[in-house]
Amino acid sequence: AQKVILDVDTGADDAAAILLAGHHPALELVAVAAVHGNAPLSTTLENTLRTMSAGALEHVPVYSGAALPLVHPMISSSPTQEAVLPLAETSLKPQPQHAVQFLIDYYMSAAGPETIYLPVGPHTNLALALRIEPRLAQRIPRIVTMGGAYTQGNYTPSAEFNILADPEAAFVVWQAGIPITMIGLEVTDQAPVTRADTQRVRSLGTPWAQAAALVMEHEMGLAQFNGQESAHIYDACTVAAVIDPGLVPTRPAYVAVELNGTLTRGRTVADFALRRSQPNTDVGLGIHRDGFMQILMEGLR
Ligand code: BDR
Ligand code: CA
Repeated sequence: AQKVILDVDTGADDAAAILLAGHHPALELVAVAAVHGNAPLSTTLENTLRTMSAGALEHVPVYSGAALPLVHPMISSSPTQEAVLPLAETSLKPQPQHAVQFLIDYYMSAAGPETIYLPVGPHTNLALALRIEPRLAQRIPRIVTMGGAYTQGNYTPSAEFNILADPEAAFVVWQAGIPITMIGLEVTDQAPVTRADTQRVRSLGTPWAQAAALVMEHEMGLAQFNGQESAHIYDACTVAAVIDPGLVPTRPAYVAVELNGTLTRGRTVADFALRRSQPNTDVGLGIHRDGFMQILMEGLR
């Protein structure tokens, strides 16, 4: 199975991503790192630990990571997102080691070059790790990130949330020269889930399917509150793109993160024409929705 490390700011869709990565037979979930983002670190960590317990993933170590972005203060995600997920309380604890030190030790070890790194929150943990140990850039074989957009953002017209939540960190990660697959909003927007989908997931009957259905319904409740009929489980799309890269057509581009624009800060600027640079990113263009649902069902059964 393909080894992966998830870096999460859990969040309902992060929880769905953890459950999928932890149970799909094509993946081995090596560890989970938590970071600030959707909510303060204390909440994203608690949500992560609850997800591990509810999903029978207590054997996968959880590391607590960066509490704040590198340079600017935290931006608030929508107030409705900042809650603790509706999953049972847990006595599960994070590992004593900090997530940043874990990433350094792990990627410098023999297993490092076999393990895809999957950030589905702000990129602060890896940015810090790369600054402490620049050789990580040669040890991480690929990053598959839920982050960015080459058309419209979601938090601002220019920027997607995970990038805008710590643009300097995303900048450091993109500059490191590690091969990146970008699962941006053009991909995740094509895979909305409906009530009928969550009912299909629930009917699988496993504890992890139940947990996934719960968090997806929670997300759907928030979406309905905002007048939408379906919800996006961005981070689960990113996991699916690792399980079956054929699901997501990509195009090579040189991507750089805008740090200075007053209107465009946090934008992932994608140069598909490759005017001056070699490609550094495989940019996801879309996703086959039925194939995504099939992988979700396969993983949670
Ligand atoms: C991203 O931001 C977070 O709210 C979600 O978990 C996802 O990772 C979408 O912009
Ligand atoms: Ca997330």
